Amino acid sequence: MIEQSIIQTDATLTSAEIREIDAELAHMPQKSGAAIDALKIVQSYRGWVSDEALVAIARYLDMSPEALEGVATFYNLIYRQPVGDKVVLFCDSVSCWIRGCDGVKQKISEKLGVDYGETTTDNQYTLIPVPCLGACDKAPVMMVGDDLYTNLDDEKINQIFDSNVDRGGES
Ligand code: FES
Repeated sequence: MIEQSIIQTDATLTSAEIREIDAELAHMPQKSGAAIDALKIVQSYRGWVSDEALVAIARYLDMSPEALEGVATFYNLIYRQPVGDKVVLFCDSVSCWIRGCDGVKQKISEKLGVDYGETTTDNQYTLIPVPCLGACDKAPVMMVGDDLYTNLDDEKINQIFDSNVDRGGES
């Protein structure tokens, strides 16, 4: 729920954000049709979408903040709280369940000291569950930042997080 005091602030978008949102609006019959894209654009610059940013986007799209909040809440890759440097998107869906993702998730939680929705104390990782990542034949699966990791087991989790993930993903 967005507080009234925030709705009344002079929240603004940057010129770069506006330029990208305008490019999306050019293809839309209604401004509200660009809601998800606008949220993604602002998140790409700021890392997450604060209440103030959400109000600024809503104003720009002639939407109510509440309506835009509904869109942001429905789309689980819009972060409404600050996240770590890298977001760990852990597949929590059928094929991954069958291939033992519960144990892998437990390993990640132990390794990083976080549960779903939490960020590590060093602000490096935020762990978020997501529905199918589209690599079911290689389950269990997760993304760390832009990198996909497949056929996960405890050993791989150790390798990935011990090397700070800078070696890139795999397929
Ligand atoms: Fe996990 Fe499809 S169910 S990648």
